[in-house]
Amino acid sequence: MKKTLIFGASGQDGSFLSEFLFKQGYEVHGMVRRHSVAENQSYRLNGIKDNIQLHYGDITDASNVFNLINKIQPDEIYNLAAQSHVRISFDMPGFTNQVNSQGFLNVLEAVRCIKPDIKIYQASSSEMFGNSIDADNYQRITTPMVPVSPYGCSKLFSHNLVHNYRNSYNMFIVSGILFNHESPRRGTNFVTAKVVNGAVRIKKGLDKTLSLGNLDAARDWGHSKDYVKAMHLMMQNESPKDYVVSTGDSHTIHELCNYVFGSLDMDYKDYVVLDKAYLRPEELNVLKGDSSPIQNDLGWKPEYNFQTLLDEMIAYWTKKYE
Ligand code: GDD
Repeated sequence: MKKTLIFGASGQDGSFLSEFLFKQGYEVHGMVRRHSVAENQSYRLNGIKDNIQLHYGDITDASNVFNLINKIQPDEIYNLAAQSHVRISFDMPGFTNQVNSQGFLNVLEAVRCIKPDIKIYQASSSEMFGNSIDADNYQRITTPMVPVSPYGCSKLFSHNLVHNYRNSYNMFIVSGILFNHESPRRGTNFVTAKVVNGAVRIKKGLDKTLSLGNLDAARDWGHSKDYVKAMHLMMQNESPKDYVVSTGDSHTIHELCNYVFGSLDMDYKDYVVLDKAYLRPEELNVLKGDSSPIQNDLGWKPEYNFQTLLDEMIAYWTKKYE
């Protein structure tokens, strides 16, 4: 039985990945941070709590990371632990860097010293591209990476470490450059879940308006369930290789609002108000990824599209308020 250790197991992706790997026959271990409200620590793992071994820890604690890897001796490590909110990274650049950069270095160093043949997946991000875009309006693995947020900078540091450690020590480490991916488990301070939750609350008479920031930005949104399968496929590759994971379909926040409010028989223009607090000091304007290499090499294909993803989220939030 293969063993896996997931850093960031209690997040959206960590919870879907835990379920997926358990179904694939893995012994699944997850590191979760201590939280003062115990229920908030691992509620996304409720569906798999009997089939996952959780360990308290924090990726910024090097000795903790070392001891955990040494104790479990996993075959595969997935590093999904992050301060993952781009706007908040401007408020907390130091913490973002500690978690997203130093945290990953702690994992790499522990694996290098304990068992260098452990395979490692690093959750990289389309935020690393910043406002670079190819002439055909897609981002791909060769598009220059010029991040425009402390979050993007911290992820690029770790993306570079993937290559440095792979080349220096012949380790199997892959970087998955994932574009935005959502689900009913998405936190409500990310725009898809915020818009869906907000629209449902307005429909139910619980709120009158929804405050948002930049509505002109465009994102390539996929479903987290599809994207964790891509992570696993990359780890089964013959040799370590980085891939872009995306749908290739990009929509503005205006279009997102239009679809979500429209599905609930409302016009978003009647309810959405602009609040400067949600603007970013520097914005990434458009994301649209070319995932043809992972589709051609590894046979990955997303099952969800923009509409089916949002329909699932709308159904989830509607039921939640019943
Ligand atoms: N969060 C948020 N809240 N975003 C808003 C709002 C708002 O009220 N109003 C407009 N937006 C815009 C943001 O300015 C951004 O252009 C877009 O909606 C998406 O914002 P988020 O959902 O917060 O995601 P993100 O693109 O910044 O980052 C996500 O995707 C990355 C991959 O590109 C996160 O999941 C990152 O962790 C991930 O790496």
